[in-house]
Amino acid sequence: MMKKVIFFLMAPLLVGILLMPGFSQEDMEVVDNEGFTKKQRPPAVFRHDEHNEKAEIEDCSECHHIYEDGKKLEDESSEDQSCADCHDEQSDGKKLGLRKAFHTNCKGCHLAKKRGPVMCGQCHVRS
Ligand code: HEC
Ligand code: HEC
Ligand code: HEC
Ligand code: HEC
Repeated sequence: MMKKVIFFLMAPLLVGILLMPGFSQEDMEVVDNEGFTKKQRPPAVFRHDEHNEKAEIEDCSECHHIYEDGKKLEDESSEDQSCADCHDEQSDGKKLGLRKAFHTNCKGCHLAKKRGPVMCGQCHVRS
């Protein structure tokens, strides 16, 4: 009986911890390619936390952004949503399509900083 009570007290707490913003993504190894109907390449290598640490990116909204009236909001981020939630596979004319959204975000920064991979096979690594 006591065990059950403790479980019911603990369960929401555990869920809360898992949903906490900033909960680390150390397990992520590749970017999920579920949003693409046809997969032409192996999923791109991306060890979330390790990457962001090495790249010295502190602001989550560097990638998980929120826009309002065409302007990026400074203090808000969207890590509770996947890129595909907002970027459809085909561009809607206003937002970039999903593939372009990823490539512009990832390669764009690598090119700008002259650090990080820009060749197809360096991200889409065949295992
Ligand atoms: C809550 C919805 C939303 C989410 C989630 C989202 N985006 Fe966006 N994104 C937008 C909107 C809206 C715009 C563009 C608006 C404009 O130009 O008016 C945009 C613009 C962009 C752009 C072009 C501008 C820029 O920042 O270079 C890129 C690249 C991009 N998104 C990549 C991504 C990636 C990668 C992810 C996931 C990590 C992501 N987006 C998640 C809504 C979203
Ligand atoms: C360099 C880009 C980048 C930065 C910076 C970044 N993320 Fe992410 N994050 C991603 C991408 C890409 C995904 C996968 C999104 C998708 O599949 O649509 C992701 C996924 C996530 C997820 C969902 C994990 C899952 O398994 O689905 C969480 C939570 C998250 N990020 C939190 C954060 C937090 C908190 C920060 C800031 C401390 C942060 N991210 C900074 C790119 C980034
Ligand atoms: C805001 C800048 C920025 C964004 C956005 C970004 N990167 Fe990087 N990335 C870097 C930097 C800087 C490095 C080099 C880090 C170092 O010195 O090792 C890097 C390195 C890498 C590496 C080399 C291995 C590693 O982890 O160090 C891979 C793979 C990589 N990035 C994939 C991605 C993918 C995939 C995305 C998009 C989901 C992405 N990056 C988005 C800045 C960025
Ligand atoms: C900086 C890393 C990076 C580089 C460089 C890169 N991509 Fe991607 N690409 C991604 C990410 C992240 C995605 C989103 C989902 C995934 O595949 O993991 C993606 C998605 C794709 C997709 C859609 C999904 C699929 O498998 O069909 C294609 C096609 C693609 N890339 C082709 C290319 C080609 C061709 C090149 C070289 C010209 C290239 N990419 C270079 C990171 C990269």
